[in-house]
Amino acid sequence: MGVIVVKNLRREYETSLGVVKRDKKIVHAVNDISFEVEKGEIFGLLGPNGAGKTSTIKILTTLLAPTSGEATVLGHKCFGEEKELRKKINFIFGSERSLYWRLSAYDNLSYFCDLYHVPEKMKKDRIEKLLEMVGLEDRAHYRVETFSKGMKQRLQIARGLVNDPEVLFLDEPTIGLDPMGAKTLRKIIKQLAEQGRTILLTTHYMLEADELCDRIAIINKGKLFALNTSEKLKDNMDSSMIEVDLHTLREDTVSRLKGIENITDVKVVTDDLGHRLKIECRNPRQIMSLVNEQLYDNKVKSINMREATLEDVYLKIIGGEQSA
Ligand SMILES: Nc1ncnc2c1ncn2[C@@H]1O[C@H](COP(=O)(O)OP(=O)(O)O)[C@@H](O)[C@H]1O
Ligand SMILES: [Mg+2]
Repeated sequence: MGVIVVKNLRREYETSLGVVKRDKKIVHAVNDISFEVEKGEIFGLLGPNGAGKTSTIKILTTLLAPTSGEATVLGHKCFGEEKELRKKINFIFGSERSLYWRLSAYDNLSYFCDLYHVPEKMKKDRIEKLLEMVGLEDRAHYRVETFSKGMKQRLQIARGLVNDPEVLFLDEPTIGLDPMGAKTLRKIIKQLAEQGRTILLTTHYMLEADELCDRIAIINKGKLFALNTSEKLKDNMDSSMIEVDLHTLREDTVSRLKGIENITDVKVVTDDLGHRLKIECRNPRQIMSLVNEQLYDNKVKSINMREATLEDVYLKIIGGEQSA
């Protein structure tokens, strides 16, 4: 049985539509989602804003009650056995400001150790190890307000580890970080999984999800649309992309391209600079000459062939349904 087990989970919110208070609307934030996460896995939840990622994490971290369905972590019910569970898990929300800016890094961690009843004799050692792990040992006694965003975020990670959690939930952990800061954080996240901790994270960065996650769930409007390894998700899409940039595009080119066997989809993006054809296909090398034939009286700027990326998969699954 998985470390995290989610079965037919639902969470509804009742919101008023504003003007008339009596007009209630039910939002199905989490709408019958099921998945399991194994020990030591890094599991990614991807989806547009409003997909239900944070609601799912809040339920799993005992901060929000589900409307119905099952959610257990380490065999404890997330709703009903909060007390036992909270000792063994922790969570970090990328946009949170739970640190005390007037206190030093060390004193912040000391405070959170106390909240989790870390025994006094273990405290110093644990704090020093955590500061070293996130590369802040030199800054232990500096006030947090003097830290860069990346340093604060790393300290948040250390904060999330004070109780030596077996399962860690990270909601957009690298949001707003520069590329170096994000890279450092990813390295830390990988180390945590190597130590045998189970990690569930959300991110809007597809390359990050691809690099970090053992498996990825794509959710939208509270529903699970895909769940697999990044490799399998890409394979299942069964496609490569040929991208063609054109100065001019003849009217019938797209339909003629769509007629070629092994071409599964053709999309046109037009902007000030010209047109881009996004041709989704199988066996791009074999059909390249056929594609070229069909482009003969267009003014072609460039042709590129590439394998499908996680972003292609994501955009295909989410489709034009981006919300807010
Ligand atoms: N406290 C709340 N009250 C009413 N609606 C909410 C509340 N929290 C979230 N929602 C709604 O639930 C849906 C899912 O939100 P959320 O779980 O935050 O998604 P995500 O983290 O994927 O962006 C959205 O439509 C959001 O507006
Ligand atoms: Mg969210």
